[in-house]
Parts: sequence; C-alpha cells; structure tokens
Amino acid sequence: MNTEIACIRLGNSHVIPVTCPEISLQIMRKKDAIFASRPLTMATDVLSKGHLTTILSPLGDQWRKMKRVMVSEILSRERHRWLHEKRVEEADNLVRYVLNQCKNGDEGGLVDLRLVGRHYCCNVMRKLIFNRGYLGEGKADGGPGFEEEEYIDAIIALVIHLYSFCISDYWLFLRGLDLEGHEKIVEDATRVLEKYNNPIIEARIQQWRDGKKHEPQDLLDVLVSLTDDNGTPLLSADEIKAQVNEIMIAAVDNPSNNLEWALAEMLNKPHTLQKARDELDNVVGKHREAFRLHSVAPFSPPHVSVTDTTVGDYFIPKGSHVIVSRVGLGRNPNVWDDPGEFKPERHLQDCNKGEEVVFEEPDLRLFTFGRGRRGCPGVVLGSLMTTMLLARLLQGFDWSIQTNQGTIDLCPGRGVAFLAKPLLAVAKPRLPPHVYSFSTESEIQ
Ligand code: HEM
Repeated sequence: MNTEIACIRLGNSHVIPVTCPEISLQIMRKKDAIFASRPLTMATDVLSKGHLTTILSPLGDQWRKMKRVMVSEILSRERHRWLHEKRVEEADNLVRYVLNQCKNGDEGGLVDLRLVGRHYCCNVMRKLIFNRGYLGEGKADGGPGFEEEEYIDAIIALVIHLYSFCISDYWLFLRGLDLEGHEKIVEDATRVLEKYNNPIIEARIQQWRDGKKHEPQDLLDVLVSLTDDNGTPLLSADEIKAQVNEIMIAAVDNPSNNLEWALAEMLNKPHTLQKARDELDNVVGKHREAFRLHSVAPFSPPHVSVTDTTVGDYFIPKGSHVIVSRVGLGRNPNVWDDPGEFKPERHLQDCNKGEEVVFEEPDLRLFTFGRGRRGCPGVVLGSLMTTMLLARLLQGFDWSIQTNQGTIDLCPGRGVAFLAKPLLAVAKPRLPPHVYSFSTESEIQ
C-alpha cells in the first residue's frame, strides 16, 4: 500500500504493519514497555503447551520467568563458552558431509545447500540440548536419515505457520473448523517434535530424580536441574518440553535460510564469492546483507500493546498487534541505496571506520534480532551459527553453478521467504587433504 503504517481491522483486533525505521524505533525503544506482549493464537497455544514458553507467551510472570532462564542459564556468555566443543564437532560434521558429496568425481560434487544448512542447524541445537546430533542412525555419508528429515520438516512447517494468517485467530468461533488447514498442520508438526523430544526429556528428568546425574552436560540437564529458592525444580516437565520445542523453532530457520540466499546471491556475482573467501573475517557483512534482503519471516513476531497509546500522530488502541515489516525496513528506498541489490560491502564500511560489523541494528534500518524487552537473547549463538555455516563452507570448498544452468534463479517460493527451489551448487575441496583430517576413512574413502 506504499505507506509507512497501516491499520487493518480483523475481527476485534487491529493489526498494524509498520515499514519505516522511525516508527519502528518509537515502538520498540521509546514505547517498548507498552508494546511488549504477544497475541494468543491457535498455533502459539499448541506449540507452547498453553503459552508456557518465552517467544510465544504474552507479557506476564510466565514470560518473565522463562526469559530469565533463557538469558541467564541457556544463552549466557559462560554457557556459550561451555558448549564450544559441541559446536565445533557439528561444524566439522558439516564439512565432512560436503566432502563426502565430492568423492565421486574430479569435477566436484553437487550439494543441496538447503539440506546442508538445515541439517547443520538442527544437529547443532540437538547437540547443545540433548548431547546428540542424530535422532536415529543418520546416513553413512553424515547426512540426515528419515528421523532427522521428519524432524526438520516439522520445524519448517511450524516456522511457516506460527504467525501466518489463520482466520480463527480473529473470529474465535471458527476455531476447530480448521478452514485453511492450519490447525492440522500445526498439531501434526508439534506431534512430530514431541515424538522425538519428549522421551529424551522424560528419561532425563527421571535420571536426575533417581540421583543418577549430578553434573549438567548439556542444556537439557541445565533446564532439568534448575531449582527455586526452596530447592524444588524450577521448571515442570511441560515447561521444559514446550521450551525445547520453541528453542528449535527459534534457532534453525534463520541461519539456514541465510546461508542459502547468501550463497545464491554470491554465486550469481562470483567476485563477491571470491572477496568473501579472501576476507573471511568480514564474512559477517554477507550475512547482514542476506538478512536485509531475504529474512525468513516477512514480519517481526507481533508486539501487542497493553494500553492505548499514540505513536507519532497515530492513535493505537490497547490490544493492537503491531508487526514490523522486515521487507519494509530492509528494502526501504529511503534508507538504502539500490535496495534490491546484493551489495554486502555496504555493511563493511563500518569496518573501515575501525568498527566491528555486528548483526545488531540499533537504528532498526533492518530487523534481524529486534530489540528491547522482546529482543532476541540468542544474538551470540545465532550469529555464530550463521557465520560458522557460511565461513566453513567457503573456507573448505570452491563453489560454482552447475554447468548449463546459467545463473541461480533468485525467486522466493509462493507465500514463503525461502528460495523457490533448494539451492544446488557444485563443491570442490580447495584445501590440502590433511586439513580435512577430522574425516574418518570409512566416511570419505
Ligand atoms: C540468526 C539467528 C536468529 C535470529 C535472526 C533471531 C531473530 C529473532 C527475532 C526477530 C526475535 C523477535 C524480536 C521481537 O519480537 O522484537 C527473536 C526472539 C527470540 N529469540 Fe531469536 N533469533 C535467532 C537465533 C536465536 C537462537 C539461537 C535462540 C535460542 C536458542 C533464540 C531465542 C529467542 C528467544 C527466546 C526470543 C524471544 C524473546 C521474547 O519474546 O522475549 N533466537 N529472535
């Protein structure tokens, strides 16, 4: 509609999309406390077991408790250092898998980057939480087996449907009729995650209860062993199960989608690929650009206002759902020169001034992690996974477009932010063989 703010009445709710940095900043900085709640929807209810988690819960004691756990216990700097080895193991696993795809020919191997990115992110998160990357046997080449594929499909289905338009969220009497099929998709996908996660969680709770475990070895141990001031468990089994589901949804989609778009854009502009490899230290500039142009969700999660208020000259009634448009900010011609162009060097200018390029965006010229009370507490882990994914793939391999393909088609799929077709590219190892020495004989032969 070519406007910076709009108001759409859906049932009794006012839904307010925002596309400019100035209004977004007022909402997320100046009036952050007012816009700090979240809507109750069918999908958030199912996935969070009745709003027991962090991202999906409305403002209140439950959100406060879970956010504190996430910030202080799960995503703190100390915890990050503690988990270093597990992350390295999965980054090695990633390179080993791609190397295995190269073993069949001198011309390199054809690699599905969508599969690679999602598999890596899921493995990292399962490793950090459950101390195991695979749910089943996996494949001999290190790729995902049936169980891992079912798991990632469920995560992606949830990411797509979590805050997408569902008519019964606004006209509650329609709940149960499942007119657009969202209820079934969300329930089935949640069931898949629970089928794999819950037995591990229940067994672990039992181990702690039976006194068979005393020292945390992964994030699940941390969640299970937290106690309140009276020494009783801080989190119930349902809270742990719901929070683990939510962490998987929070952590997997952004880095893997970013990899696919960043590499697709760079394959079409080989000089940027060469430059990225030459300047791996600056690889973060490439991510920032892929986040700006191709964010995984079109809008921020909704911020619900807890009182009537005004922003700029606009009256916003209590209970409005404000959604900041990531496309509206990231491709805003008033903010960015050549907004549709992939020009990662625009982010490196900060570096030349002697500043480090970071993902956070204080002026909200793009919306990557959000800010304020509802801002993402996973910036360090999310940035690291995103950077590690692209950096290890660029460092380990030469990448090219398949012969006869011309260029990569940069069209998103219908109604989703992913590339319409998974990105396929040819990888060729570029380092001396001994550098890949973590790979076992049996896996690469
Ligand atoms: C590149 C990776 C990531 C990106 C781009 C990202 C982005 C975001 C965004 C946009 C929000 C919403 C902010 C808002 O509503 O204003 C958010 C919230 C959140 N993220 Fe992340 N995130 C990433 C990784 C992670 C990871 C790895 C975790 C945890 C393991 C995580 C945990 C959370 C949580 C718990 C919230 C909810 C905060 C709240 O509602 O109070 N994120 N993230």
